[in-house]
Amino acid sequence: MKRIKILAIVGSLRKDSYNRQLALMAHDIVGDRADFSILEYSDIPMMNQDIEFPAPESIKRIRDEVLSADALWLFTPEYNHYFPGVLKNLLDWLSRPVGENQPPLLANKPTAISGITPGMSGTAIAQDHLVTLISLLNMDVMNMPRLTIPNAMKQLDDDGKLILQKSKGYLEKQTDAFIDYVQSRV
Ligand SMILES: Cc1cc2nc3c(=O)[nH]c(=O)nc-3n(C[C@H](O)[C@H](O)[C@H](O)COP(=O)(O)O)c2cc1C
Repeated sequence: MKRIKILAIVGSLRKDSYNRQLALMAHDIVGDRADFSILEYSDIPMMNQDIEFPAPESIKRIRDEVLSADALWLFTPEYNHYFPGVLKNLLDWLSRPVGENQPPLLANKPTAISGITPGMSGTAIAQDHLVTLISLLNMDVMNMPRLTIPNAMKQLDDDGKLILQKSKGYLEKQTDAFIDYVQSRV
């Protein structure tokens, strides 16, 4: 069995982001079954076709990371019933052609989606918008299971750290399903 590489993309730049904490928990649950890293992209510019060629160094770096990953795992917050603009900007950059005869970076990339909110929605509406976009980009989205976690505040320890007393089992199930999903495609 090939050792797969999962690249997590968190749609929040906030230091204490619940979605980042969710990604870190997913990393723990993946354990030694796969390589797992989080894409750092707070330094990329806003998409502007005037600076697209040659691509900025930060864009070259994230392209290399996405290219070398077998799968992407998107952890998205919900902003106004949508996924955040930083994630849209990142996906816009990654959607662009890299060079002549180079395949699109995102097409056919196995992709999972998870999200957590302090409120009731659990990011379900944002995830639906995200699926519309990543389907356009021909990414290979695992629709079942997706993970939507509401009421983040009720799943913290005394220091305010996310521990998912109620939802951890769902994250474990999604992790198992995603590893199988990716393994069936590499
Ligand atoms: C601009 C903005 C819009 C938001 N809109 C929503 C929303 O539509 N639904 C929701 O559940 N939470 C909404 N929130 C609250 C976020 O879910 C909350 O701030 C969450 O902690 C952000 O994710 P993070 O912890 O990963 O940074 C919004 C927050 C911001 C900053």
